[in-house]
Amino acid sequence: MIEVIEKTEDMRNRVGLIKARGQTIGFVPTMGALHDGHLSLIRRARAENDSVILSIFVNPIQFDRNDDFLNYPRQLERDLDLASGEDVDVVFAPGAADMYPEGYSTYVEVACSLTRGLCGASRPGHFGGVATVVTKLFNIVRPDRAYFGQKDLQQVAVIKKLVKDLEMDVDVVALPTVRDADGLATSSRNQRLTNKERQTALSIYKALERARELSISGEKSTKVFVKEMRDILKKAGIIRIDYVSVVDPETLEEPDQAYPEAVAAVAAWVGSTRLIDNTALGVGPEPKLFLQYKTQTVS
Ligand code: PAJ
Repeated sequence: MIEVIEKTEDMRNRVGLIKARGQTIGFVPTMGALHDGHLSLIRRARAENDSVILSIFVNPIQFDRNDDFLNYPRQLERDLDLASGEDVDVVFAPGAADMYPEGYSTYVEVACSLTRGLCGASRPGHFGGVATVVTKLFNIVRPDRAYFGQKDLQQVAVIKKLVKDLEMDVDVVALPTVRDADGLATSSRNQRLTNKERQTALSIYKALERARELSISGEKSTKVFVKEMRDILKKAGIIRIDYVSVVDPETLEEPDQAYPEAVAAVAAWVGSTRLIDNTALGVGPEPKLFLQYKTQTVS
């Protein structure tokens, strides 16, 4: 049986025991409904640390819409089976009242341009909620390394800034996006898509692949990238687009002229589900990570 801890105080005590043994802690924060993307982070954490702690907490303060929070998939039993299969040492699954008891009043804001554009523009308060919960989780779990997915490009940039600004003693490890065999980035929210919507959602991946193709063929104009990507989404029937952009992965600013390290990024609605994805323009085809990591052996 995998060890599950719900109370923050119990988790702190457990961490104290791990530290007393001189063991390193790899931490994977999630909101559960685990999929292959989460599992790739867990596997890397398992390979690089003595102890692996996984958190599962649907953080209410990072949701900008109540319906999204209420409909967010919750499947703890299945998640525990998956975590157990990946040899996770401890699952930290607090309740909202443990994390934010009555009278809770401290919030962390990464107040710079990193949080203003892209998802920050369409999800007010979101990154404040993420920065706050991640700060709390880091203080409870005291990880040596924490693992995040590049699918949430802006989240990675915000967390790196948070860690730097607040002098947190943790290595932030960002790992590539895991995709289903057809290219769709795995996401807990994909569960909400109907078969037809899933087909439509694939156009997000196709738009990103088109950006890569353009880049390989020598195109530089950001305007051209954005227009072609938007056209693909529209043709597929996606009408609500939060953004289509080409950005620098560190500053998140949109250059006029693209370069290989720049990232094409999309946030769009398929039915009532908001999906995000991105890919580095790079050169050559995106490495097929969903195949690679499945065959990699982890000690
Ligand atoms: P969640 O959406 O559950 O994602 C947990 C981690 O899994 C994040 O670092 C995310 O980037 C990563 N991830 C999601 N899909 C992925 C994919 N297809 N490939 C690789 N990694 C992927 O992100 C959050 O939760 C929350 O904001 C959290 C950081 C836990 C704070 O509440």
